[in-house]
Amino acid sequence: MLLIKNASQVLTLEGGIRREEEDYELGIIEKGAVLIDGDKIVEVGETSELRGSAEHVIDASGKIVMPGFVDPHTHLIFAGSRENELSMKLRGYTYLEILKMGGGILRTVRETRKASKELLKKEAKRRLDYMLRNGTTTAEAKSGYGLNYENERKMLEVINEIEHPVELVPTFLGAHALPPEYESGEFIEYMKEVIPKIKDLAKFIDIFCEKGVFSADESLEYLLEGKKHGLIPKIHADEICDIGCTKVAVDVGAISADHLVKTSEESMEYMRKSNIIAVFLPATPYMLLSKEYAPARKFIEKGIPVALATDLNPNCYTESMQMVISLAITQMRMRVEEAIVASTINAAAAIGEVKRIGSIEKGKQADLIIMDAPNYMHIGYHFGVNLVEKVIKRGRVVYSRR
Ligand code: NIG
Ligand code: FE
Repeated sequence: MLLIKNASQVLTLEGGIRREEEDYELGIIEKGAVLIDGDKIVEVGETSELRGSAEHVIDASGKIVMPGFVDPHTHLIFAGSRENELSMKLRGYTYLEILKMGGGILRTVRETRKASKELLKKEAKRRLDYMLRNGTTTAEAKSGYGLNYENERKMLEVINEIEHPVELVPTFLGAHALPPEYESGEFIEYMKEVIPKIKDLAKFIDIFCEKGVFSADESLEYLLEGKKHGLIPKIHADEICDIGCTKVAVDVGAISADHLVKTSEESMEYMRKSNIIAVFLPATPYMLLSKEYAPARKFIEKGIPVALATDLNPNCYTESMQMVISLAITQMRMRVEEAIVASTINAAAAIGEVKRIGSIEKGKQADLIIMDAPNYMHIGYHFGVNLVEKVIKRGRVVYSRR
């Protein structure tokens, strides 16, 4: 048994996914405690009222305890890096221009195709270490730099085989870009044939639905095929243009639509009639040197549930959900409470794991973090540093600052 006690605040996040604006509250227990047995939470309450005892005790005086961050959108697996593109962006090149020149995703595809599984695992583990130290306890991870059967399979195998305290949920992103060896229509046909061969290695299927990449019709066709084989649709939508991708997402019953910088009012109205979750990735416009972020307030006011993710990839190289929260607050005007909900319980919902993780509740998996902050308002406010003191994954202390 492990007891964490005397926390200035325990943020339980109990109560499941938040939809309506007024529901974004944190479930705060002052002078709180959490009792853990094995990998499960068995009691949560005020320290003075907790009945159980434990052989291991952590005193969290002056600190907050909260669920570990869930990062529901990452491109964790890739070879190489693209630091040169930051200079290109400074010189005025856009993301799609760099891609057209054979850079961007296509460059990472060339390097990832060449890489061995061992190399990809080694590189991914370094990133997972950063994630863990920065408080992420579960992450979604996409393929998408293979763009053919052999290499997409290799990426998914890497995601499934990696051993690391950060738990991974795999997504097949076979339609991430058009590889040079294919014409547009043919590629989607080919990827549809790949789906049944990789379906057991992934939980979700995703596509980059964007002007100049894959159209709304192609996305619909591909995601429906995935669904037929038991994969749950997700979509990269409205990052650069709104070409009707969120409508596709709703029509196929996608669990989430991600990016949403350009989503029109009409598309939002369509989304609000479904159960879809809007996943914002504010680190991406930040690294695209853009001033334009997803209109988070509008989504929240309409009662569309929102989540936050890093989008970790060679264009947007961050593992830090604390950075993302800070950007969400300062650039998207999300309230601190909303940003915390969006990084924990709603993020868990965005990967279909809301019953198991994302909050500190009796019976849930014991994934939590202790933050060097006297109250939750310090998150996003005390920025540019890592506030994580300890990370507990499945009931075990897997990271400790000192
Ligand atoms: O979500 N926009 C498409 N895909 C990724 C970026 C991948 C890359 O640039 O390597 C994204 O931002
Ligand atoms: Fe992405």
